[in-house]
Amino acid sequence: DKGTYPFYMLKEIDEQPNVMRKLAQVYLNDAGDPVINTDLLAALKAADRLYVVAAGTSYHAGLVGAKLFESLASVPTEVHVSSEFAYNQPLLSEKPFFIFLTQSGETADSREVLLNVNEQKFPSLTITNVPNSTLSREATYTLLLHAGPEIAVASTKAYTAQIALQAILAKALGQAKQQSGANAFDVKQQLALVANGMQALVDEKDTFDQLAKADLLHTPNTFYIGRGLDYAVSLETALKLKEISYVQAEGFASGELKHGTIALIEKDTPVIGIITQANTAGLTRSNLQEVSARGAKTITIVTDALAKNDDTIVLPTVDERMTPLLSVVPGQLLAYYTSLNKGLDVDKPRNLAKSVTVE
Ligand code: F6R
Repeated sequence: DKGTYPFYMLKEIDEQPNVMRKLAQVYLNDAGDPVINTDLLAALKAADRLYVVAAGTSYHAGLVGAKLFESLASVPTEVHVSSEFAYNQPLLSEKPFFIFLTQSGETADSREVLLNVNEQKFPSLTITNVPNSTLSREATYTLLLHAGPEIAVASTKAYTAQIALQAILAKALGQAKQQSGANAFDVKQQLALVANGMQALVDEKDTFDQLAKADLLHTPNTFYIGRGLDYAVSLETALKLKEISYVQAEGFASGELKHGTIALIEKDTPVIGIITQANTAGLTRSNLQEVSARGAKTITIVTDALAKNDDTIVLPTVDERMTPLLSVVPGQLLAYYTSLNKGLDVDKPRNLAKSVTVE
């Protein structure tokens, strides 16, 4: 039931702080250490490489997860789009472990890969929001997202839940492998900070409504740009805008823009820069200046620690590896208000279904 909310999507965006707290409750003990099935941890520890396989928004969550697994657990991690992997399987490592990210647990493209993986007798984990879903039944292990039912077609809370759970799992694996970085990473504290930061953002709905009206409502196209994790989030925020507002949106690696795509920048093209990583903040700012000089209207989404006076949206500072959990929220709200102000059916965009059960 959506209660007083006009659309499920807004309700689900609002539920994200509680989803973060719920995951901490379910998967962390009082000391803040992960509580993960020991057989699953042993199987992960035995792997020489992780393969994260997913579609759409879940694929975007995988891009963030890979950074967490590499940074906290020192295990090489590849992320693949399931429909591509299914019929073009890359050369695998000797001891691969597969992680399927799927909100619904029913995505046919991802299931096709799992069937192949099972035939090859490789171990697998499905991270899903739906207990007893097909992919959870067919994988070796399952972890549940505990995000509550996601009704809106555009995925929001499942994305942030997938990232948070991968952070917990990466810490667990890092600790099992005696990685000092994993011990130092206080995931419990980080999730608490993230929950508070998300709450502060969703409490500012009017800001995003105004911004959507001013900059996105009448544009035919827009760009989200960033580097590293900010690039991963730019892909997700662009997808959100496309699918519910029908504005053509592209998520782009900010350094790559000048290698051709900058030709599309015209007077007043909105370009939204995501800046949360200290090592690339200056570079993305230069890239924003390049588009600004060609007439683009720039909007910035920046963490407190890296903010300057004229930044548009400032996010509270959290561990740099956790920033996607916050930087995505403005993108979710901008997409929501663009769609709402266009008078569209936010929860049921054209041509789309909640779970995609054909290949
Ligand atoms: C976008 C969206 C889709 C799904 C994709 C995978 O908002 O919802 O891109 O993320 O179809 O679905 P799951 O996660 O159920 O496998």
